[in-house]
Parts: sequence; structure tokens; C-alpha cells
Amino acid sequence: MISSETIERIREALPLVDYIARDVVLKKAGSIHKGLCPFHNERTPSFVVYANDNRYHCFGCGKNGDIFNYVEERNHLSFMEAVRLLAEAAGIALEEGDARENAEAAEARRMTELNERALHHFRHALKELPAGRKALDYLLARGITQESIDAFKLGYALPQWAALASQLIKEHYEAESLYTLGLARPDKDGKGAHDYFHDRVMFPIHDERGRLVAFGGRVIDEGEPKYLNSPESPVFKKRAVLYGLPFARKAIGKNDLAIIAEGYMDVIGLHQAGITYAIAPLGTALTRDHFKKIARLTRRLIFLFDGDAAGRKAAFAAARPAIELNFSVRVVLLDAKVDAFDLSRTLPRQELEEFVRRGIPLTDFILNCLYQESDSGEKALGFLDRVYAWLADMQEEVLVSLFLQKAALLCNANPEELEIDFRKKRKQGGHRPAQDAAKKNLPDSPPVTKFRLEKTGTDADFEIYLLRLVGLHPAAWPALQSEFAQGLRIENSEARFMLDALASLAESAPAWTEEAFQAAMPTEALQKLVAGDIAAGKFSVDWEKQLRDTLDTLWAQAVRRERRMLDEEMRRQKLTGDEDMLQELQNRILALRRREDALKHTARRQK
Ligand code: CTP
Ligand code: MN
Repeated sequence: MISSETIERIREALPLVDYIARDVVLKKAGSIHKGLCPFHNERTPSFVVYANDNRYHCFGCGKNGDIFNYVEERNHLSFMEAVRLLAEAAGIALEEGDARENAEAAEARRMTELNERALHHFRHALKELPAGRKALDYLLARGITQESIDAFKLGYALPQWAALASQLIKEHYEAESLYTLGLARPDKDGKGAHDYFHDRVMFPIHDERGRLVAFGGRVIDEGEPKYLNSPESPVFKKRAVLYGLPFARKAIGKNDLAIIAEGYMDVIGLHQAGITYAIAPLGTALTRDHFKKIARLTRRLIFLFDGDAAGRKAAFAAARPAIELNFSVRVVLLDAKVDAFDLSRTLPRQELEEFVRRGIPLTDFILNCLYQESDSGEKALGFLDRVYAWLADMQEEVLVSLFLQKAALLCNANPEELEIDFRKKRKQGGHRPAQDAAKKNLPDSPPVTKFRLEKTGTDADFEIYLLRLVGLHPAAWPALQSEFAQGLRIENSEARFMLDALASLAESAPAWTEEAFQAAMPTEALQKLVAGDIAAGKFSVDWEKQLRDTLDTLWAQAVRRERRMLDEEMRRQKLTGDEDMLQELQNRILALRRREDALKHTARRQK
């Protein structure tokens, strides 16, 4: 752990106002500074930095915090990553905390620097040495451009027994460090060292912070193994690294989307084709660690995998962690014998982009897999058993409903009966894994609460109400987008699923039909609700006014949330007693009260 004194020292060394002034033009007014918020789009400044307190607060989008929050938010980093970044910027070594942690950090720095030195050697071989010519020719022949070779810093490991090791040892690097990183191995007699990579195209592998942690080496043309990766080391945990992440980070944030492909070549090909939000695991299954790294940048993914059994299996295995971590995923399985790299070489950019965005929703993909794996003969039974088993541990009831509804469709069952059947069996524990069998004898597990839509008066209801209305009036979609741009948020998870469905509808057909909207609803309950709306002609009269009213209500809720936060801030600031700041907060609170009053007034008039 890093000590709180160190955190304080970093905070003091980097005045927040100066730090933020790198990104934002700030105007001074007393001890506060104002500017346009870097976290949302706005034309008049509502982003305030309190110089004395080293805190910022946006009264437009509500983002607030200290320099660490700022960097976390701005650079999509975890707290620890932000601390490291800022410590570096402040020139403060993180030595003060736990001695072991710092010894580790220093060791890691030494290791990644040694990797950089090795990379320099590989790059030199590829670009300058006659022996590297065939590797370069190989890459160019496969259609990798010189720009990509430079952007991804590809290199070449010479065929000699110890080309790299002998040079680095001559430069006084320790052989031991080369072994730790897997760049070299000791000779049998223990006297010398030989290289780990021979005659291979080298792909440097960076972690999410851009540190060079490992290499992948590909044989030129044919040979086994096709790829050789650095072994695990103190700086390289294979199951948590995504190839291309530091290069894709920005584009993933901007597009709010990441493509997960299968390998090095796929990523390079896609980037080269202009799709710069592509990344890939290193030939391993996707883990929760992978998804957590991506979650900081986006929750929308496309799995772009080979259409062979391995690709299918990979997508299926990745589904659960992705779903559990709230990702919205589409799956694209390619034809046999074609991978994403081939695709990126053949399709023009626009078609490529359209193609990858056309994937099927992950839920459908899972159900297809479960369906196809069913035993022949008792197809329906085998299939449902698999579905139940797959859902047994699923926490999110919305997803359970969604799956069951789609499953019902696939095997021609009655969706309602299926839900009842599943919940009954799940309650009985019939589909628990075997090791949980003992729990069966426990008294009643808590009853599964049925998923309900019409609770009156909650925030969620208004959100769903709003989306029902917009769903039946595609013309309102742009207006809704502009509300979102102004900071309106949909908080309830069911409503967010609904919004997702609406968004993909809008993407494929800007003027969608009522039926299409109904069909796009993610749960049976929602489909019914919408069917009811359509049958009753709801929202057909005066819908524009209803839209405004619902938006007002949602904004009022948002204002209340903001109020609570401001009051809290006010209490805190009173302790420090900065006059300007108090004045500013006072003004904001008054403005909010006025807004609340205005909203109440409108509400009363409507009754
Ligand atoms: N992989 C590996 N070891 C192997 C084969 C594959 O680690 N022996 C990993 C690599 O990360 C590779 C990914 O799995 O990028 C996908 O494998 P594959 O599709 O076979 O390789 P490509 O990246 O498509 O490379 P190429 O187009 O050169 O065949
Ligand atoms: Mn491939």
C-alpha cells in the first residue's frame, strides 16, 4: 500500500488548477476557477475548480472530486494507476510506503526497461540488418504496411543461438534478469545464456498502461509452434493482458465500443483498416481480469472470432464473465478458414465496419450454442436442461427472463410456463451444481421475487414510461439523444436494457414501426406492456406534451440527487470556510431550488 502521506505529497506537489489547466481553459474568479467541463459537452462553463481545496465539481454533469478522481475519470484509470501516473508527474518516488511494494515497483521498472532494450535489438534487426530482410518481406507480403510495423513496433529475433543474450550481457545486463523475463535461458553447462526467440517476427506486448511486459514471436511462414510467447514473469500475467490495448484505448473510449479479436494479426489488420478499437487476448480464454480492464473504457463489445469450433468455444466461454460484468455484447463468427485479419485485408473499411457491427446479440448466440449441443432425439428436453443449468447461477433476473423468453421461442414452448417451471426448479435447487447438493436440505431458500414492472412512482417507472413513449414515436429519438447529451441518465437496469434495444433499433431503422419496437423489447413483460400500449393507442394524443412532462419529472429526480450532493458539499465546505466557494455553492443551491420550484409549478398546473 502507498501511504496516505505520499498521496498528500502528490496532491500538494500538483496543484489541481494547474493540472486541469492542461486540458481546460480556466477563468479565475476569486479562489475558484471556471471552465468548460472536460467530461461532458457544454457551451457555458459549469465546471469549477476550487484552488484552495484542490477539488473540482461540474454542476452540469455532477462529476466531482480531487486530482486522483480527475485522472481516473479523464484517463480511464484505476485509483492505483492514477496514483502511479501522478507520482511520476510529480517526480515523487513511491518509495515511502511499504518497502516491498516499492521494491516490486522498482523491479518492474527495471524489467520493462530491459524489455525495451530487447525490443530495440529486435527492431534494429528487422529494419537495419540484412538478416532481417526476410522477416520484413514476410510482413509486407502479408499486407502489413510499414506504418503498422512502426506503430506496433514489430521486430525480428535473429536465428543465432545467442544474438540477444550475448549483446545484452556485453552491455552489463544480468543474465538472471534475462531469464526472469524469458528472453534467454541458461545453457546446459550453466556458463552461458542462449536466446528464447529464434528467427521469429516479434510482437511486443504492452500492458494497459503501455509498459512493455512481454513478446510474442511468430515463425516466418510455416513451423511449430506458430507463436511463442514470453513466459509469465513478475511483469507479465498472460491472463490479464490484452494485445493492442494501449493503442486502442482512445478509440474504444471515443466509439464506446471495443472489438475483441483472436490474435496479434487480427488486431494489426483491423487497426490498419481504420478500426482502431480492436484488441485481443494472447491466445488464452477471456477472463474477468480482461473484462475489468475493458470496463473502464466501454461496456459495449463485439466478439470477432473465427468460425471454427475453437472460436465458438471461446465466445461461449467468454459470455458468462462478460454478462456478469454487465457488458453488452454482439458476436460475429467468421466463416471457416477466414480470420479477422483476412477480412481486414479484403473488405473496404466501411463494409468491414458494417460487417462487424452486424453481430448477433450474445444471448441469442448462447442459446444457439445450447441448442446445437443438445442431444439428438430428445432435442427440446436436452436443450431446456442446458438452458436451466446455464441460468442456475444467474443473478440478474432481467437476463433470466430474457433468456427464457428467447428459449421458449426456440423450442415452441409457452414463455410464461417456462418461466414458472424454471423458477420452481431453481428454487428446488434441481439445477445447482453437484457440490451444492447439500444445501438442498436447508429450509426454504428465499422466494424468488417475481420481476415486476408496474411499481408506481419509482424513478424506474418514469424511465420506462419515457422509453415506451419514445419507442412508439421514433421522431422523439433525436430529442432524447440531446437530453442525454445534457446529462440526463437512465439509471434503472431494466430501463437501460430497453434503451439498448431502442438504440440498436434506431441504428438499423431510424423510422421503426410499432411492431418492430415491441419485438425488440428485451423481456416478455416489456413486450406485453408495449403490446398493451399499442392496442390501447397510448401516447397517440398529445404525446409531445407527455414527453416534455416525463422529461421534467426525470430532471426533477436528477435535480434532487444533485441537491443532496450539494448540501453535503456545503456542509463540508463550511468547515474550511472559503468565502468564494461558499458563495458559489450557495448560488448553485439557489439555482437548483428555483429549478425545483419551476418543475413543481409545472406539475401543479397539470393537475
Ligand atoms: N496463439 C498462441 N500460440 C500458438 C497459436 C496461437 O499463443 N501456437 C495465440 C496468438 O496470440 C495468436 C492467437 O492465438 O495471435 C490466434 O491464433 P491464430 O489465429 O492461429 O494466429 P493469427 O494471429 O491469426 O496469426 P496468423 O494470421 O499469422 O496465422
Ligand atoms: Mn487467426
